[in-house]
Amino acid sequence: MKATGISNGKIILMGEHSVVYGEPAIAIPFFATAIETTVETTNGPVSLDCFFYKGPLSQAPKRLLNLVTVIIETVKKLDKPLENFDITINSTIPAERGMGSSAAVAVATIRALFHYFKESLSNDVLLELTNISETIAHGNPSGLDAAMTSGTSPLYYIKGQKFEFFPLKVSAYLVVADTGITGQTKEAVENIALLYHSDPKKTDDSIKQLGQLAKEAKQAIQQNKTNQLGVYMTQAHTLLDSLGVSNTILNTLVHTSLESGALGAKLTGGGRGGCMIALAKNKEHASQLSDVLLNAGAKHTWIYNMRKDD
Ligand code: MEV
Repeated sequence: MKATGISNGKIILMGEHSVVYGEPAIAIPFFATAIETTVETTNGPVSLDCFFYKGPLSQAPKRLLNLVTVIIETVKKLDKPLENFDITINSTIPAERGMGSSAAVAVATIRALFHYFKESLSNDVLLELTNISETIAHGNPSGLDAAMTSGTSPLYYIKGQKFEFFPLKVSAYLVVADTGITGQTKEAVENIALLYHSDPKKTDDSIKQLGQLAKEAKQAIQQNKTNQLGVYMTQAHTLLDSLGVSNTILNTLVHTSLESGALGAKLTGGGRGGCMIALAKNKEHASQLSDVLLNAGAKHTWIYNMRKDD
């Protein structure tokens, strides 16, 4: 017997980190990258085959603790024995690069296990189980990555509130560039928590400003004001940098994009590595920006048409 589950990557347009503190974020499911998990019948203890490890689930390395835990908790929820199946995970989402790979692995695997055991899976249970994995991955998840990697529509997302679907339909293109460097979401989230202790007023101001920029970006999108959206993106990057969640290569790629006429540019996701995004006026400009970013050190780029989105 064999069953599969799928999920997709995500791009945070505005609001990473501040979303953890209840501010709004705008994010997009990113179908150019995806994960498929397959569960297949075997005899004996469960084994795992994924990018980082192939072998018995019980001996998986510590870095896979979030995935191992989510598998155990899902099987427990299903009230089934943890034996007699293999799990194989195939992913085109670059791991630990701010595209939601940790949440997406959990989503695809939970879906595959529910399919395998022929049980229906509600969205609430899917998000609840995914957040077990996300809590291990980086301590204090907003739930945004779980929502985006399991969802099909962009969201204007506020932690703990009902999902607000938010079709973008903006006449612009996003260029997504992977620095090739593993991001450090956990450390970045922890760094902001530390700043909250050492300098509460300044940190709170920055978080509120990030939230305000997300609100203004929402209006700019609704009015198709791409120049304005770009300005808000770059301002958000400056604030994120001041909160210690950027790094040299992200800053270089942001500056290079702006020098090449990007309407705006910022890191996306957890930061300290991972990916950045640049807003291009049109398709040709996006393709030029992509070349410029690859020349400046990006390892991979994707072009995303924001108009297409609904
Ligand atoms: C990580 O993709 C996004 C963060 O805002 C964390 C979270 O929302 O859980 C950094």
